[in-house]
Amino acid sequence: MGYIIGMVSQKGGAGKSTLARLFARELAKDGFSVKIADLDTQQTTCTDWAADRAEAGHQPEVQVQPFGNLKTALAEARRFDVYILDGRPHSSQQTLEIARAADLVVIPTGQTKDDLRPAVKLAHSIADSGVPENRIAFALVKTTNSAAELAAAQAYLEQTDYLTLEGVIPVSTAYGIAHDNGRAATETTHRTLNDKAERLAQSIINRLAALDQSKEVA
Ligand SMILES: Nc1ncnc2c1ncn2[C@@H]1O[C@H](COP(=O)(O)OP(=O)(O)OP(=O)(O)O)[C@@H](O)[C@H]1O
Ligand SMILES: [Mg+2]
Repeated sequence: MGYIIGMVSQKGGAGKSTLARLFARELAKDGFSVKIADLDTQQTTCTDWAADRAEAGHQPEVQVQPFGNLKTALAEARRFDVYILDGRPHSSQQTLEIARAADLVVIPTGQTKDDLRPAVKLAHSIADSGVPENRIAFALVKTTNSAAELAAAQAYLEQTDYLTLEGVIPVSTAYGIAHDNGRAATETTHRTLNDKAERLAQSIINRLAALDQSKEVA
């Protein structure tokens, strides 16, 4: 493997650190070497979570390290099967740097226009900076139980040149509780919620595999 995945968003609280932890946990469980570079040194969400996880003894252990500098993080990235960059919100310079370094950029978004518009705008600015469109993907996070609103959001994203990952992480306090206990989104106490999170993680893996194949063909 040897992939770098970037989690970025313009809006704060969109779900970057949720996806980073979910994906790291799923890959570690499957025996891949994976690490999260926590580039949000003000919040250190993933770093603190990994400490809670280690303290609680949850397996598999997930490696997380805070980095004040993207360059330092990238220097070790290729030593891992998958290296996940968890970015800061509202940080256009760092966001573009993460996007350029990543094999796949994931932009979490909610399903309202308030969330979708800035997500699409960010995707455009990443594409404008030279990142190919097929390396940019949206992930729907914190969706509500309105099927009509979700379908409208998916249709809205469908009109763009970017991919929308399959699966959604619906809004649920169970995910927040899991995070509070050092667990990832596939480790809540609710099987159906875990299955939904797993589907989204799987769709990131599928996307990486597709990009890899297109690399080989090229
Ligand atoms: N599906 C969900 N349902 C309920 N709460 C959620 C869900 N997903 C994430 N959260 C919670 O929402 C908050 C923000 O999520 P997260 O930390 O993943 O976003 P972020 O994009 O990394 O935020 P920031 O921009 O501040 O770094 C966290 O408290 C998290 O536990
Ligand atoms: Mg975060």
